[in-house]
Amino acid sequence: MSSAIINGKEIGQEIRGAVATRVEALKAKGVTPGLAVILVGDNPASKTYVANKQKSCEQIGMFSELIKLPEDISEQALLEQISELNTRSDIHGILVQLPLPKHIDEDQVIQAISPEKDVDGFSPISVGKMMLGQDTYLPCTPYGVMKLLEHSGIEIAGKHAVIVGRSHIVGKPMGQLLLQKDATVTYTHSKTPDLPSFTKQADILIAAVGRPNFITKEHIKEGAVVIDVGINRNEQNKLVGDVNFTEVCEIASHITPVPGGVGPMTITMLLENTVQAAEKELE
Ligand code: GUN
Repeated sequence: MSSAIINGKEIGQEIRGAVATRVEALKAKGVTPGLAVILVGDNPASKTYVANKQKSCEQIGMFSELIKLPEDISEQALLEQISELNTRSDIHGILVQLPLPKHIDEDQVIQAISPEKDVDGFSPISVGKMMLGQDTYLPCTPYGVMKLLEHSGIEIAGKHAVIVGRSHIVGKPMGQLLLQKDATVTYTHSKTPDLPSFTKQADILIAAVGRPNFITKEHIKEGAVVIDVGINRNEQNKLVGDVNFTEVCEIASHITPVPGGVGPMTITMLLENTVQAAEKELE
C-alpha cells in the first residue's frame, strides 16, 4: 500500500483564500487586520520564519509590522514594547518569535501580551481557555493539524491518537484538541520506554519530537494516519521531518510530507487568528 499524501500547501491555500475574503470584508468596513511581529536578535531560522509570516500577511492584504530588537535588549524594554502594542488600535495580533535570548524570561514576555491579541495562543490565559474548550486563539501548529485532518475527511471521534512529543507549542495542545474531538489520546515522549509498543496502537500518530527520521516503519500500524510536525535539517542540510517518509508511506493510509505538509498550515492559522482578532473589533 502507498499512502495518500496530505497536501498542506494546497489545503493551506484554500483556507488562505477564505481568509483573504474576510480581510476584504473587514477593509470594506474600515478595518485592516494588523499583525505585529517582534524579532529579538539574529537567529537565522527565526529571521526566515518571520520573513515568511510577513510575506504571507501582505499576500492576503493584511498589515504587518516587524519590530526588530537587538540581542542584548533588556527584558524590561521588551515588556514596554509589548505594552505599547497592546494599546495600539491598528494592531490586532502580537507575536513574539521564539526562542528569545537566554537573559530574557520567555514566560514573562508571553504573559505580557494581551489575551485579546495573543494570536499565537501561547499565553496562560489562552492555554487555560483552550483546555476548558472555551473560545480562544488556538496555537497555530496544532490548529493547522486539526484543519488538515478535517479537510482530508479523517475521522477523529473514537480513534486512538498517539502524540510523540510534549512541547507547550505542539505536543500538549495537540492532544487537547484531539481529545475535544473525542479521540482517545496517549502522550509519549523521548523518555517513554518501548515507544513502538505505544505508537503501534495509533490510528492517528502525531510526530513532534524534533529528531530527523525518528519514526520508522517499526513504529506504525498498517493503515494509520501519520502527521509529521518535525522540521529538521539532515546532514545534507535538506529539510526532513521526524518521520522516515519513504519507509512509512508504504504502511500508513495517509501521511504529511516535509516540506509541504504541516509547515504551510502554521502560518495559515496565524493569519486566520489575526483576522478573527480584527473581526472582534466590529462585534
Ligand atoms: N518559534 C517556532 N515556532 C514558533 C511559533 O509558532 N510561534 C512563535 N512565536 N515562535 C515560534
